[in-house]
Amino acid sequence: MAHLLHIDSSPRGDRSHSRQLTKEFVEVWQQVHPTDIVTYRDVGRNPVPHVDERWIAAAYTPPTQRSVDLQAALQVSDQLIDEFLAADLYVMGVPMYNFSIPSLLKAYIDQIVRPGRTFAVTSEDPDNPYQPLVLGKRMFIITARGGTGYGPGEHNAQLNYQDPYLRTIFGFIGVTDITFVSVEHDESGNQHLTESIAAARSQIAQLIGR
Ligand SMILES: Cc1cc2nc3c(=O)[nH]c(=O)nc-3n(C[C@H](O)[C@H](O)[C@H](O)COP(=O)(O)O)c2cc1C
Repeated sequence: MAHLLHIDSSPRGDRSHSRQLTKEFVEVWQQVHPTDIVTYRDVGRNPVPHVDERWIAAAYTPPTQRSVDLQAALQVSDQLIDEFLAADLYVMGVPMYNFSIPSLLKAYIDQIVRPGRTFAVTSEDPDNPYQPLVLGKRMFIITARGGTGYGPGEHNAQLNYQDPYLRTIFGFIGVTDITFVSVEHDESGNQHLTESIAAARSQIAQLIGR
């Protein structure tokens, strides 16, 4: 029995392609793995707070030296990290905003990428002081874009700061097994969009092995 954490980051509701496809992913997943547990985190419609000065002070103070006030500053971060670490795998819906990710998701990432919890800072190798702490996980990321051609080798590939950033930041904490599924053409809204959604659905079914 595995534990799947389902994360959405689009502020849109029914019109969101990434939200619709993560929902379908979870439905298919549960048909194939009926005993698995699913937890849901919606940072698109229930935003998490940005890190602030108290958060930074607390995160960089050793746990045993944190005052009650500093401990409180990390309460949300601790809850989000506990939830993240409890999962074995993740499915995440991510719109492309300005060639990157929505700030709603960036705020979540800033809360969960934390020294001592999801990565360690060591003094053994000064050139490489960071050690990932989130090991043995698998992640599926479903991206949605208005335009097209952002895939590797395609005409807009050099504008894509979405997939490379997500691969970098989750890889930094140890989640290196990441599969991307993407829907493009939202802005044209025509047959190309319909075909892109159908291709994403079929990729999801294949990935889950139905
Ligand atoms: C603020 C904003 C910025 C966007 N920036 C881009 C962009 O840089 N490139 C692109 O192809 N589409 C862009 N889009 C279009 C979205 O990626 C597209 O509508 C996508 O389907 C949104 O995901 P969702 O359907 O899950 O809400 C942008 C949309 C918004 C609202």
